[in-house]
Amino acid sequence: MDLDSIAPELRSAYQLAVDLARRAGAVQREHYETELDVRTKSASIDLVTQVDHECEALIVSGIEAVRPGDAILAEEGGGENHSRSDWRWIIDPLDGTTNYAHGFPRFCVSIGVEHEGERRIGVVYDPLLDELFHCVHAAGAWLGHRRLRVSTQTDLGQALVATGFAYDVHDSTQDNLARFARVLKAARGLRRDGSAALDLCYVASGRLEAYWELKLHAWDVAAGILMVEEAGGRVTSTDGGPAPRSGAEVVASNGHVHDAILSHTRG
Ligand code: IPD
Ligand code: CA
Ligand code: CA
Repeated sequence: MDLDSIAPELRSAYQLAVDLARRAGAVQREHYETELDVRTKSASIDLVTQVDHECEALIVSGIEAVRPGDAILAEEGGGENHSRSDWRWIIDPLDGTTNYAHGFPRFCVSIGVEHEGERRIGVVYDPLLDELFHCVHAAGAWLGHRRLRVSTQTDLGQALVATGFAYDVHDSTQDNLARFARVLKAARGLRRDGSAALDLCYVASGRLEAYWELKLHAWDVAAGILMVEEAGGRVTSTDGGPAPRSGAEVVASNGHVHDAILSHTRG
């Protein structure tokens, strides 16, 4: 990305987000396929490792060192919620923890930055593929030095789609399975790869035509939603309205198959 194309007030935050995502990714690479301290959180299938915590501490301390007044929302609870700040950092220190704990090579760091309540910066780093997805509002979405555009596919029957399932899937009747079955019968292929942030980046890069999921959190989608929008795609809730900031539900696509995917993912 050409730094001159970035609004001056965003430039230093963007550079910091890129640096911290790369450094946290290096921590993930270093500990990948080593013996991990794996614990559970909200359910027996909701895992957290010492690497999640180490990455979050690295990112949060890196922000606080140079931008001590900025608000921070981080998945594992680090950082301060300076509610009067114009800036808010939304961090998933390791998106794809189940994959990581099993040595399944699909996980990333995700950092989103809001300014005055608007999504402005997104950085998602896949440390094994060394793929850095990055976007800034009005300056485009990029994979390394390559500008990203969503795919031009208009036919859901020829589309590759992804989804995911929340950690309450064993117990909840709102389990996404009916939607999963409908899309499976309509699309060319349907994936469940286990990293919401990468799924969104793959829509932005044209590797996927669409992705939807329910019951996500703000940190899963803060960077990825802007990535899709800056690549020319569309992101909504399942009823076609604005995607909630909370991540409670998201439908992202190249725009062309959006109505078709909505018709299968409505409640
Ligand atoms: C999870 C992943 C997964 C999605 C889950 C998320 P985590 O995040 O993004 O793909 O299906 O809903 O919670 O726990 O690995 O950060
Ligand atoms: Ca996540
Ligand atoms: Ca996580």
